[in-house]
Amino acid sequence: MKSEWFKNCWMVAAHAGEIGDSIVARQICGQKLVLHRTAESGVVALEDKCPHRLVPLSLGRKVGDQVMCAYHGMRFGPDGVCTDIPGQKQIPAAACVPTFACHERYNLVWIWMGDQALADPALIPDLHWADSPDWTVTTGYLHFECDYRLCTDNLMDLSHESYIHKRTIGNVDDESIAEFPVKVTVEQDRLVRAHREMPNIVSPPMFSMILGEETRIHRWQSAIYMPPGIHMTNVGFHRVDRPRESAHMHMMLHLLTPETDGSTHYFWVFCRNYHRDDEELTQSVVRANVVTLQEDADILKIQQGVLDANPDAVVPKVGIGLDVAPVQARRLLHRLAAAEEADRTAIAPPVAMVADGPLSPTGGSLAA
Ligand code: FES
Ligand SMILES: [Fe+2]
Repeated sequence: MKSEWFKNCWMVAAHAGEIGDSIVARQICGQKLVLHRTAESGVVALEDKCPHRLVPLSLGRKVGDQVMCAYHGMRFGPDGVCTDIPGQKQIPAAACVPTFACHERYNLVWIWMGDQALADPALIPDLHWADSPDWTVTTGYLHFECDYRLCTDNLMDLSHESYIHKRTIGNVDDESIAEFPVKVTVEQDRLVRAHREMPNIVSPPMFSMILGEETRIHRWQSAIYMPPGIHMTNVGFHRVDRPRESAHMHMMLHLLTPETDGSTHYFWVFCRNYHRDDEELTQSVVRANVVTLQEDADILKIQQGVLDANPDAVVPKVGIGLDVAPVQARRLLHRLAAAEEADRTAIAPPVAMVADGPLSPTGGSLAA
């Protein structure tokens, strides 16, 4: 099944810590790449294909800032230009490899897969929580065997938490998230927000673990999406007998980068403002996130299999009320992808992903 991408934007290629002394093979938007860190140019990305006999350069090794092909030893610099051919002095002009602009920010490596002349670091989305001293940050990665758009459908309708994630962030035996109304807004023709207030609910397991007790809480949750693959789930919660200003808050960044039409790199960054130095809690949060995201990965892999077997299927086959935000998200993605299809130099600049919180317009309606 063909996916829908647009490429004149920055996408996450790696967590910064992944790219060290060794070369890393990674496929993004169907393009096979070799990533490595250089002294001269920071992280660079080259097409993973030697121009001599098309052997993957990722089979080779680094020599200083160069990548040396595993087969006949040609070397390529950070700009993709061949610097050495064993046994000859003359280097043909065609002996070079396409490169893709990379930039490090927020402890992430960003890559621009579209028109390289348009790659401006000022267009990197603002995810400042990911390296702010005001938040405690944990990170991870999962490989999803599905079209990244299925992840977007999943993230924009969080009512599934009640059913899929009852070990961590859902509690279907007490209440269903779907019972609480969701407010969906499309902002600046660039992002979709689905905000839900859940007053006076039983704390789901992960929240009980964080609070140190099972209790009744007020909880709010916003799913914020900026196409093609930047998601933030903004969560706040506090005991019902405490004021909203005391809320624990976290931002879960879900950074989706298409690998192929049917597979996705899923980078996550969890930023919290509570129990900031509690290392034990940090480890528990990591475990809970991995369990939660693996539950999504498992069901989306199954869904992808069914879609592959039914290539003409359109989902949702039957639309229900919960589909409003996912449908708006798909529509916005489609509009932006179509704009780039019509004009290969079109760019959709990112906008601020304003988090909801006690003082924000969308986050202020719960009684303390
Ligand atoms: S295939 Fe790379 S040098 Fe020959
Ligand atoms: Fe989920």
